[in-house]
Amino acid sequence: MIGNDIRVTLGKAEILHGLDFQARPGQVTAIVGPNGSGKSTLIKALTGELAATGSMLLNNRPIDTLRPWELASTRAVQSQSTTVAFPFTVIEVVRLGHSAGPWAAEPGIPEAALARLGLDGYAGRYYHELSGGEQQRTQLARVLSQVWHPVFDGQPAWVFLDEPVSSLDIGHQFVVMDLLAGYARAGGGVITVMHDLNLTAIYADHVVLMKDGAVLARGTPSEVLTDATLSRAYDHPLRVNQPAPHGVPYILPQACRAAAGGAG
Ligand SMILES: Nc1ncnc2c1ncn2[C@@H]1O[C@H](COP(=O)(O)OP(=O)(O)OP(=O)(O)O)[C@@H](O)[C@H]1O
Ligand SMILES: [Mg+2]
Repeated sequence: MIGNDIRVTLGKAEILHGLDFQARPGQVTAIVGPNGSGKSTLIKALTGELAATGSMLLNNRPIDTLRPWELASTRAVQSQSTTVAFPFTVIEVVRLGHSAGPWAAEPGIPEAALARLGLDGYAGRYYHELSGGEQQRTQLARVLSQVWHPVFDGQPAWVFLDEPVSSLDIGHQFVVMDLLAGYARAGGGVITVMHDLNLTAIYADHVVLMKDGAVLARGTPSEVLTDATLSRAYDHPLRVNQPAPHGVPYILPQACRAAAGGAG
């Protein structure tokens, strides 16, 4: 996925100020940044949900030239918040994704997706009666059912996810992130908005850090998740620890409090 000079205006305000974005298949690309920095707006621009100027290429083709069925075969989208208007059961929600994608004729995918997300036995439950985290995992099962195989017709399939683990407990966060990493390793493209910088450090191959509708930094987690860059992005002193050469950086809340002069 390549976007150049992406600009989005909502109402009278320009929200994205002509930014460039790149994500490669085979990698997990994480979009991070403070509230209101434009992460969801960027996802919506990249998926064509919001009108944007600039050029956007998905598998080297301009997204505005892709027909609806080509888009549905190539990418699936999980929004930051999703409401389900009708009293659907869990399996019905997941089948919405499955039936929209290129594997609709292959049976068993919705059930397999639920199982991968630890939702065996939930198929007949009403979606609106699930907990927040169960609903979020059901939505991811819907997305995965749509683009179940990471490569379709010799081309990578893509998932665009806006905070897919925000409601999940730590165990399920790892389940989901392992699943996404596996999808990327198998040749698919994963573009995910994240708030948890430690999970980002562990799982992302490429990090795009946004602030005020622009890209503040991009690169590997070690390149982007630094004291200076994060402190500037979040307007708060943040301390990043690097345990060993080539180790995964991690951010310690206590160290942040001490650095901020907080009582400790
Ligand atoms: N429909 C809209 N009309 C006007 N402004 C909007 C609209 N939608 C979003 N915005 C503004 O655009 C900016 C970016 O919003 P966006 O939802 O992309 O942020 P975000 O980085 O996803 O934040 P969060 O971490 O809170 O989800 C915010 O200042 C928001 O108020
Ligand atoms: Mg958002």
